[in-house]
Amino acid sequence: MTITLAFDIYGTLIDTHGVKLSLAAMVGEKADAFSNLWREKQLEYSFRRGLMQNYQDFAVCTRDALEYCCKQLDEDLSPEQKQQLLQEYRTLPAFPDVEPCLQQLKARDYRMFAFSNGAANAVTGLLQHAGIEKYFDGVVSVDEIKSFKPNPEVYNHFLKRTGVNSANAWLVSSNPFDVIGAISAGMSAAWVQRSPKAVFDPWGIEPTITVSSLTQLDAGISDYTN
Ligand code: 2OP
Repeated sequence: MTITLAFDIYGTLIDTHGVKLSLAAMVGEKADAFSNLWREKQLEYSFRRGLMQNYQDFAVCTRDALEYCCKQLDEDLSPEQKQQLLQEYRTLPAFPDVEPCLQQLKARDYRMFAFSNGAANAVTGLLQHAGIEKYFDGVVSVDEIKSFKPNPEVYNHFLKRTGVNSANAWLVSSNPFDVIGAISAGMSAAWVQRSPKAVFDPWGIEPTITVSSLTQLDAGISDYTN
């Protein structure tokens, strides 16, 4: 059976810390802390909106999290500076291992989808900007069912939309909560542990495979499935 891959976008293919240079110019040595808090709060807001059934586009979570960071870190950014950061968020860079990985996998004839909390237009824009849209069979966004990862309905929606049985579907993500969500919904999942310091949540639910770079994904999936 053909394997269908669901690639997480933010943090897995696309580097959410790609705004750090601009942040450094705006907040100096707080740039690292700002960038980390921004991402953490963005995800927390998506989790909370999912639980509260108070859905807004992921871009709203990103914008509100930016406002939170300014207050929490006592940085009085101007409306223009905030606009610049949010604009850059729409053109964040891909990690260097992404294109080699996609080339390897395309040769295998896997079906490949982008699968994200981001709305389809934002995700398509990122893929186009990174020059990697051509590798994908489509984009599946949580926006289609107005919820967020890791709601099991989101993973079930992916399976339904792409017409695949969970036994032949793999999530690829560097976000442990996403990996646990996909496995809980019956999919296989590859965790991309981009740093040796990245900790996988100790819930007793393990990734199907773990890779330290996307360039190991092709061999990792082949070894597991053969
Ligand atoms: C994504 O869905 C979880 O932010 C991550 O792209």
